[in-house]
Amino acid sequence: MKLAVWDPGEPFRRWRDALVQHALELGLAVEVVDAVADPDAQSDFALVWKPQRDWLQGQLGLRAVFNLGAGVDAIAPLLQQLHPGVPLIRLEDAGMGRQMADYVAEGVLHAYRRMADYAESQAQQRWEPLPLAPRSSFTVGFLGLGQMGLAAARRVAAMDFPVLACTRTGQARHGIDPAWPLFGLDRLDEFLAQTRVLVVLLPLTDDTRGLLDYAALSQLPAGAHLINAGRGAVIDQADLLELLQSGRLASALLDVFAAEPLPPDDPLWRHPRVRVTPHVAAQTLVGPSAAQVMRKIAAIERGDIPGGVVDMRLGY
Ligand code: GLV
Repeated sequence: MKLAVWDPGEPFRRWRDALVQHALELGLAVEVVDAVADPDAQSDFALVWKPQRDWLQGQLGLRAVFNLGAGVDAIAPLLQQLHPGVPLIRLEDAGMGRQMADYVAEGVLHAYRRMADYAESQAQQRWEPLPLAPRSSFTVGFLGLGQMGLAAARRVAAMDFPVLACTRTGQARHGIDPAWPLFGLDRLDEFLAQTRVLVVLLPLTDDTRGLLDYAALSQLPAGAHLINAGRGAVIDQADLLELLQSGRLASALLDVFAAEPLPPDDPLWRHPRVRVTPHVAAQTLVGPSAAQVMRKIAAIERGDIPGGVVDMRLGY
């Protein structure tokens, strides 16, 4: 079986070595192809992160495509257009859940302990202790509760902050703590009104693009904080900036942006109440990802359907 890897961000041999090792352990015979260096080679399976359209179009015998990340917005429409019927499979956690939980936990504590206020005090050499809100009032609302959202929500709940969540359907699912108030997107405003720190971990789909505009974000209580580590285009950045400038939102921690890299002249870079990170909240780890992909290929070879198959109608 031939397995192509398209990941310009990672030395090919790292993927090849890890994939070959896991294939051996599973008793699979695999030839790993560097799709960037050898675009004409045909493969049965492909592991991709933002592949070139022409290359993907030229792959005529694909049995499945694995996305080297949790979010599939960049690849799902392209694959459906070029090779309808070829399943798209995303990574499920693969070491990203813990990273995301770390990132969000830091953001929640930064907000809770008023670090943006203290940064401002420090800039003015002002020694000014500020009151601390009761922890029980510092609700953390998770918008999106997939693999990343759930890992982060569990961590924040374990830190004794009240957690609530809003998902597309609002339906309970395995792994979601029944104690967390759960809202569907049709009750977004109600959810936002109860949220002191909004953690956005939604997939980018037709339903979520631009979902958090001025009107939606204004439903948050005054002085609320925002953390976005899902996809930038879910938020209207100009509206967000306006709400930060007016002081209605207290701070934002942003890992993702409508355009990446964030353009140098974007005012978000310089806003004193905004922290910017370069899309690193949860990075793909070669070892756990290679192990998971090989396990999923083994399942396909057995005739099973692996976990993480993207529902093309829903777009995630
Ligand atoms: C990164 O953003 C991912 O989707 O894994």
